[in-house]
Amino acid sequence: MRNDILPAFQTFIAELRGIWSREGDTRKRMEAGRDALEKLVRDPGLQAHSRTWPSTEGHKNLLLHTDEEHGFIVNAVVREPGRFGSVHDHADAWTAYGVCDGMEYLERFERLDDAAREDYAEIKRASTTIGRAGVCDLVAPWAIHAEQGSGVRSAAVILRSQKLVGRVLQHRYDGRTNKVSMGSGPTQIPYELTAG
Ligand SMILES: [Fe+2]
Repeated sequence: MRNDILPAFQTFIAELRGIWSREGDTRKRMEAGRDALEKLVRDPGLQAHSRTWPSTEGHKNLLLHTDEEHGFIVNAVVREPGRFGSVHDHADAWTAYGVCDGMEYLERFERLDDAAREDYAEIKRASTTIGRAGVCDLVAPWAIHAEQGSGVRSAAVILRSQKLVGRVLQHRYDGRTNKVSMGSGPTQIPYELTAG
């Protein structure tokens, strides 16, 4: 990694690479990765930097890091005030989601039907966590959830156990019609966290 990248982010990536090297189990990697992400999103330098990041409105993610050796991905998302996110899963990938600026609502849903049909799901909101700067959520494969914006701009860093976009489709859930559709994840916009 270039040496003009924000120090807290360099530390984060080095820590993740260490975790992936010594631990083979994806759940354990991601539990340790979530702890590393928590440190990152609590870093005042990273938080200040995130206030300069561009909006990702229009189903985009900033692509901060692709680890060619270990396969994990680090994204960021910047929500405009009043932004409402769709209910979805992340297919077979684990995801750690850390808010670094502003506020969001992290919603979890449970499925009420027997999952017999591919295109139909009855879902019910099971919990809502207020995500303020420093709050991290670990989302297991296939877990149904939504990240909702609030009245203020918000930014978050996302650690994905593996690449999603271009590899696998994710489910989207419509709680009003009970329809389930398949879709690609957000458009990836390469973005470097340069210091200074
Ligand atoms: Fe998500």
